[in-house]
Amino acid sequence: MDTFLTKNPAAAAEFVKRGGVVAFPTETVYGLGANVFDAAAVAKIFEAKRRPADNPLIAHVGSLDQIGRLAREIPPAAEKFIAAFFPAPLTLVLPKAEKVPLAATAGLATIGVRMPRHPLAQEFLRACETPVVAPSANLSGRPSPTAWEAVFEDLNGRIDCILQGAATEIGLESTVVDCTTDAPLVLRAGAVSLEQLREIVPATRNYRVRPGEVARSPGLRHRHYSPRAKVILISDFGFRISDSSGFIGLREPENLISDFGFRISDSSGFIGLREPEQKFALTRVCGSVAEYAHEVFAFFRECDHRGIATIYCETVDESGLGAALMDRLRRAAE
Ligand code: TXA
Ligand code: MG
Repeated sequence: MDTFLTKNPAAAAEFVKRGGVVAFPTETVYGLGANVFDAAAVAKIFEAKRRPADNPLIAHVGSLDQIGRLAREIPPAAEKFIAAFFPAPLTLVLPKAEKVPLAATAGLATIGVRMPRHPLAQEFLRACETPVVAPSANLSGRPSPTAWEAVFEDLNGRIDCILQGAATEIGLESTVVDCTTDAPLVLRAGAVSLEQLREIVPATRNYRVRPGEVARSPGLRHRHYSPRAKVILISDFGFRISDSSGFIGLREPENLISDFGFRISDSSGFIGLREPEQKFALTRVCGSVAEYAHEVFAFFRECDHRGIATIYCETVDESGLGAALMDRLRRAAE
């Protein structure tokens, strides 16, 4: 059966109330939502996306008072982040309330909670009259959808409804912060930067998986954000290399090519901040890091449509939103 398309948030919310799954826009990416308290509906999300069963979902609220229905307690750091940022592209991992089914958290005793600031998302969530768990509305492993058409491409016929909004403002998924540890840990970089979080809770730091340790965020264990094309990161493309070049260096010039140029074929794409000298089949020059973040997933999908085999992505400075963008680029290049 075809998926129902609507611009009406109340009509979309009806599907959630009846145990269905609905894609909806947020300021980060489109989410695929179901009633958090309906374990059967939550199971449909995993099936539609072909999502690994061990990857927990984020619960979205339309008002702050709904957080109390999801969390057993709100640690002091989380209180501060909520007061400073919500509604925001920010997810806080909190101790889970008893009533939240384990299906929503992939068996974890914690739950990620976020209040989106997108007006259409808020209208939809309020109309649902319940918190809504939602991963990004893509097939697992594909680039996150930043337009309803991308959701349609991946999930038409597999979900009940798409709430059609504009292309998403930020284009990268929310910052995820674990607030259940002594010092808050950033599990995933996003538009709310480490610098901004530290202004509110100075002890906040980036989480890094130590060798041999099981990742705190199951999402970190899975392949992510990938176009079909091979992704190569480049940081300096000031000169050309000819076919008769040799290379000597300390590392194999593989995915991250730094300062030694690269070769291009007819079926390559480029996205970055500077205009490359070379000709690519598809070139996207962005005016800012924010524009780059906004465009990158849509560009990946466009390259796939055109059968492009290799995508060269210029690296950016890892401050503010640049840290989130570099995280996604690295994972796409893995
Ligand atoms: O911007 C976003 O966050 C979007 C929109 C729809 O809100 N959602 C999103 O969901 O990106 P998803 O499922 O694609 O990514 C959620 C990430 C995963 O890496 C997951 O492992 C992590 O958050 N996560 C969720 N709940 C968690 C928990 N209880 N503990 C640790 N990590 C958690
Ligand atoms: Mg996702």
